[in-house]
Amino acid sequence: MLPNTLDFSRRAQLTERMDEPCSREELRACLRDLAKTNRWLMAYRPMLHWLNALALPPHAHPLRILDVGCGYGDGLRRIEQWAKARGVQVELTGLDRNADATAIASEASAAESNIQWVTADVFAYAPQKPVHLVVSSLFTHHLAEADVIRFLQWMERHTELGWFINDLSRGAISYYSFRIFSKLAGLHNFVRHDGPVSIARSFVREDWRRMCAVAGLGDREVVIKGFKPARLCVARSKPQ
Ligand SMILES: C[S@@+](CC[C@H](N)C(=O)[O-])C[C@H]1O[C@@H](n2cnc3c(N)ncnc32)[C@H](O)[C@@H]1O
Repeated sequence: MLPNTLDFSRRAQLTERMDEPCSREELRACLRDLAKTNRWLMAYRPMLHWLNALALPPHAHPLRILDVGCGYGDGLRRIEQWAKARGVQVELTGLDRNADATAIASEASAAESNIQWVTADVFAYAPQKPVHLVVSSLFTHHLAEADVIRFLQWMERHTELGWFINDLSRGAISYYSFRIFSKLAGLHNFVRHDGPVSIARSFVREDWRRMCAVAGLGDREVVIKGFKPARLCVARSKPQ
């Protein structure tokens, strides 16, 4: 049951159904509806916006991009389309600690897709080749604050050009609106539950400023930007 009243001045201590054990069929149905929601709510837009604005140096060829917590892999497949449309040669890796998620992401990809799907916990993962960019979507709110800071430091260590976090923005309006939207849209019951819970577990600007500072990143090194509806993104482009 979702709580009807919450204190949005701090992160809710609630758990998501998709983080609990479930069958591959159940996870597939949930991730499909999450991907549908991503498309409907234009969730790829902030990441594509950032990619378009990046000045890619000639040595970043092919451009190696890692998607952490890739889930269904729809975000990375969207990047593959972006690269194809622009003639950018890429090597794409989708990482998820859930082996069912990477199997589902692989089966949802077209035969001609060259994305590599890897099962590992990000904190135990050492990329085989240097990574130019790390992206993530709807991932950081799954972590405790100390682990978000570790993740920021991990990305700083492992990327050559930068990284992009695309997550939700905690707030009452988004919490209640998504409850109504997901019910009317008839979305999978995990998405109907986990969507509002994710919003309640997400961060606000002050949280990101604090966590970036603890991770050793100053105000001028990151851009924290909101996108409608209900997204709050953190971008880092390293000076070249
Ligand atoms: C809500 S899903 C996001 C899926 C997709 N990125 C999207 O935007 O729809 C979060 C994913 O992060 C994965 N995850 C959570 N903790 C992880 C970790 N420490 N390392 C790698 N993946 C992790 C989960 O298994 C889950 O598939």
